[in-house]
Amino acid sequence: MQIIRTENREDLGKAAAEQVANLIRRKPNATLVLPTGDTPLPLYHELSDACRRAPEDVFHLSLRDVTIFNLDEYIDAPQENSYRQYMWDNLLKYATLPNFHIPFLPRYVKIHGDKIGAICNEYNHLLDQQDIDLAILGVGQNGHIGFNEPGCDPEERTHLVTLSESTRAANAHLFRSPEDVPTQAITMGLKDILSAKRIILLASGPSKKEAIYRLYFGQKEDPEWPVTYLLRHPNVTLIVDRDCFPIDSMFE
Ligand code: GLP
Repeated sequence: MQIIRTENREDLGKAAAEQVANLIRRKPNATLVLPTGDTPLPLYHELSDACRRAPEDVFHLSLRDVTIFNLDEYIDAPQENSYRQYMWDNLLKYATLPNFHIPFLPRYVKIHGDKIGAICNEYNHLLDQQDIDLAILGVGQNGHIGFNEPGCDPEERTHLVTLSESTRAANAHLFRSPEDVPTQAITMGLKDILSAKRIILLASGPSKKEAIYRLYFGQKEDPEWPVTYLLRHPNVTLIVDRDCFPIDSMFE
């Protein structure tokens, strides 16, 4: 497992953007899996900036032929909190529209169990048609990946999840009120995430320290920490900042 340690979250975004840009310049029709959250915001800032540059600029980047799958989406979130809106605000409005996929969850429509099943099947069907070149992931404080919460089945594909109270609490600051945080979501499963040719995990700040410690130093799978399933993958790069990976104190 390769590790890149940066000074802060902004540099973390730059390091990740460089990896993405290298891939897309080499393979303009690459397939990416992308995360949401605060951590990848500087990455999206860098990518948006590169997309807005003039085509003759050496730092210009085109996402025109790229295919993007998002990791997850809330069920019944206020419009402004949906991950579809997040991706639009932070990347898609700046890019010539790539092939963008996210589980489609209309608000105000009563979603029954069989409807959710159909949405998941459709997403899996789309995933079956692609080889994922690069999955970029964030990690929850409790070690969740996408919304694969502690105790999840690593063999599962796209599925419905009930969010843990700790995940709802960790994400509450992004909502107008804590009660607005949805109780359910749809997430890509670890099986598809782990099928990516390469994985980059981004983690910033002290709240992610334990998850990264368990992955990097634990060296064994722990069902209570889904992030440790990344040990199954042969090509994982961690991009972490100093606050998340304070090397000296980690050996105390
Ligand atoms: C949400 C997302 C995850 C993300 C996590 C961490 O739960 N579903 O994909 O990794 O938040 O977000 P942040 O970067 O804001 O800490």
